[in-house]
Amino acid sequence: MSEKAELKLEGQSIELPVVVGTENEKGIDVSSLRAKTGYITLDNGYMNTGACSSAITFIDGEQGILRYRGIPIETLAEHSSFLETAHLLIEGKLPTAQELDLFTNRVRRHTMIHEDIKRFYDGFPRDAHPMAILASVVSSLSTFYQHEEGVRSEKEQFDLNTVRLLAKLPTIAAFAYKKSIGQPLMYPQNSMSYCENFLHMMFSTPAEHYEVDPVMAETLNLLLILHADHEQNCSTSTVRMVSSSKANLFAAITAGICALWGPRHGGANEEVIDMLEQMRTEGGGVKKYVDMAKDKNAKFKLMGFGHRVYKNFDPRAKIIKAACDKLLTKMKINDPLLDLAKELEEAALKDPYFIERKLYPNVDFYSGIIYKAMKIPTRAFTVMFALGRLPGWIAHAREFNEEPGNKINRPRQVYIGAPKSDYTPIEKRS
Ligand code: CMC
Repeated sequence: MSEKAELKLEGQSIELPVVVGTENEKGIDVSSLRAKTGYITLDNGYMNTGACSSAITFIDGEQGILRYRGIPIETLAEHSSFLETAHLLIEGKLPTAQELDLFTNRVRRHTMIHEDIKRFYDGFPRDAHPMAILASVVSSLSTFYQHEEGVRSEKEQFDLNTVRLLAKLPTIAAFAYKKSIGQPLMYPQNSMSYCENFLHMMFSTPAEHYEVDPVMAETLNLLLILHADHEQNCSTSTVRMVSSSKANLFAAITAGICALWGPRHGGANEEVIDMLEQMRTEGGGVKKYVDMAKDKNAKFKLMGFGHRVYKNFDPRAKIIKAACDKLLTKMKINDPLLDLAKELEEAALKDPYFIERKLYPNVDFYSGIIYKAMKIPTRAFTVMFALGRLPGWIAHAREFNEEPGNKINRPRQVYIGAPKSDYTPIEKRS
């Protein structure tokens, strides 16, 4: 007989089913609680709430384990390509050579964006944040592909929009960068690999072809894989939430991009570099900043530190730190920010405040230094995160859509506002 949890409430005993996952993760299914008792469960910030069952990504935050579809992130980082990982996440399995070829070629064929979209870029202020541009342009894709319902099956439509998004996001991002520096937009080169093509669109000009350094392309491939999914984080939950209303995939991904933007989430990679720059210019040593992060009145946090789930180490941060060292050595780049970052990490990891709270460097701590070495502007760092996270978002949207009997996501609340009140006419209000 399967295990049950027993809840004693107002002299009544209620049984709730226990759910056990593949890796022995345990949950109590409270979905019947309100009907049985009138009570809801309250969990501000979803500290302990499972919003769904998912077969995509497994994380064990205590052990520092991250696996996509069962495959450890370390293995994928060593052997896979971004598009292969995307296939793994979205289709649920590693592709055969033939399937990968087909998938890659489909993505290659969709890299251009409609010429009319280019005109949007003229409307944004020159200093517009690239995440705002990314969200706006992705949202606009629904306007270009709006009359396709009924032409294909729902599944075919989803697959095509998946390919469109994977293919076009690098183009949309690179165009935003080119616009911000006043250079002509560079069209995609479909003979290139995914990462080479992105670097080409970013850094080639009509006057000069940018020779893509294979080390850069390889490092970018690695970063994209490491960011590709992270189960129910803020942006992915947002994508699932929006998908639950049956809004289209472009709308759901736009919402994911917006959620990612914030400094507590993907926006942290931009903030890490700003923080390190500030430390370098202001001086005073790393201790000053560690102390500031501990002082609740200072309203300062060590950006790139801490994680809701990882309480031991973030396996992605380990891989990124090594990749960062390797890239900078290979490129013969001596970035004082890397030394500062290492010094800061060392100081924080020895400090009881950080030890007690289990605060470790996360994925965003060293990634910015790599992006900087690639000459990606700081304000575009979160865009890089979005490029990586896209397959995860799509995989979750698809998983949600294909779940039999799925429902609109609609949390409850405990109302703490005014009790029933009278409407006071305006002349009588004080
Ligand atoms: N610097 C100083 N103190 C911190 C930090 C930090 N970076 N992170 C957490 N704390 C403290 C926090 O003040 C709290 O202390 P106390 O118990 O005394 O009140 C304790 O540690 C627990 O933190 P929390 O904010 O309750 O934890 P959370 O799970 O709600 O937040 C977090 C997780 C990632 C939002 C938070 O650690 C943070 O703001 N970190 C900095 C931003 C950052 O690097 N974000 C990227 C996350 S990884 C990539 C991604 O998922 O997007």
